[in-house]
Amino acid sequence: MNNSFVLKGNICHSKNPNTLEIIENGFLVCEDGFSKGIFFKLPEIYSNLRLIDHKQNLILPGLTDLHIHAPQYSFRALSMDLELLDWLETNTFPEEAKYQNIDYAEKAYSIFTDDLKKSPNTRACIFATIHNEATKYLMKLLEDSGLVTMVGKVNMDRNSPEYLCEKNPETSINHTEKWLSETIGKFKNTYPILTPRFIPTCSDELMKNLKDLQIKFDLPMQSHLSENPSEIKWVSELCPKSAFYGDAYNQAGLFGGDCKTIMAHCVWSPEEEIDLMRKNGVFIAHCPQSNTNLSSGIAPVSKSLDKGLKIGLGSDVAGGSQLSVFRAMSDAIQASKLYWRLIDESAKPLTIENAFYMGTAGGGEFFGKVGKFDEGYEFDAVVIDDSLENMRTTLDLNIKQRLERIIYLSDDRNINAKYVRGARIL
Ligand code: GUN
Ligand code: FE
Repeated sequence: MNNSFVLKGNICHSKNPNTLEIIENGFLVCEDGFSKGIFFKLPEIYSNLRLIDHKQNLILPGLTDLHIHAPQYSFRALSMDLELLDWLETNTFPEEAKYQNIDYAEKAYSIFTDDLKKSPNTRACIFATIHNEATKYLMKLLEDSGLVTMVGKVNMDRNSPEYLCEKNPETSINHTEKWLSETIGKFKNTYPILTPRFIPTCSDELMKNLKDLQIKFDLPMQSHLSENPSEIKWVSELCPKSAFYGDAYNQAGLFGGDCKTIMAHCVWSPEEEIDLMRKNGVFIAHCPQSNTNLSSGIAPVSKSLDKGLKIGLGSDVAGGSQLSVFRAMSDAIQASKLYWRLIDESAKPLTIENAFYMGTAGGGEFFGKVGKFDEGYEFDAVVIDDSLENMRTTLDLNIKQRLERIIYLSDDRNINAKYVRGARIL
């Protein structure tokens, strides 16, 4: 079987949010796209499998980006002197409107998909735009890339510029149902996910009808939550019957429970919101680079992790500028140190173990058994060569230290191989 083989090298993955497992010169067995586990010595039963020797390289689980906007990739790093709501008006909405034009979408989404494939990320939950044709095209490109993704046609039917607003809830729902009928079950590695942009751009009626689609097709959903103080105030005015921002999603039945949910940001979530997310199993996509770029704030992520919430990392491109979830790991550590120093000295900064967990197993869990090498997990791996010019050092380092340097210093040049569901794609 092409999807059955053994990798040899320095293997590292998370056992839990606080513990790394490191096996030097170990064997990692993939059978039919699933991990059979890590071994110090290769068991006899696997001796017939093809062995790929990655020598001194590190073999890590593929990384998961739990929150990214594909149509924003073109303008990454531009206008990073603005705050969220101004940045949406001046940069984001005019750019997303261009995806009405399929020629533009083909060009821009090809660049995005090529670059995502070259990154250390193997999985992603992706916002597209309100446009069906462009979204389907993006899904086809992603399917061809070999990455595993969930992709959402975005819903927005109010408080949006006329050129990027669905006329009414019915139009938005009809388009969504058509897109779903054309994409559910059509791909091996690419899945639709419901994507109301955020409460300010989605009417109560739209949310109610999205819930019907969620039940009808048993879909997951993704959105934004408690990112910015002005946004939160706006939601409290739009939804006077909601006790807090997350309650507006919850009242629509789109906040965890029987609806697998990712909420991006949660920078300013009050206690009740955090408690409800924990109770309902809502995943937080922590997006530290975006939170800094858009002056959103510093999320209390180590506190949420300690409380046992489900948390992964998001690039939130183009709120964030870099695709690599390694970058999100180092940004998460930095942001948590500022939170500890400036906001709450009882919130201890994130460790390397915490950040690596969130970028692999934490976000991977949204896809099922993903982000670890334990037996039965889907086989996603990246092989990193840290001996290249860009990571030179005079030090003699152990594997944990080499992992730290990979998180802070590596780039796409250092990726020696990339496997997704047992298929080698790089
Ligand atoms: N809230 C609503 N839309 C967006 C978006 O495109 N990016 C970010 N960061 N926040 C949002
Ligand atoms: Fe976002």
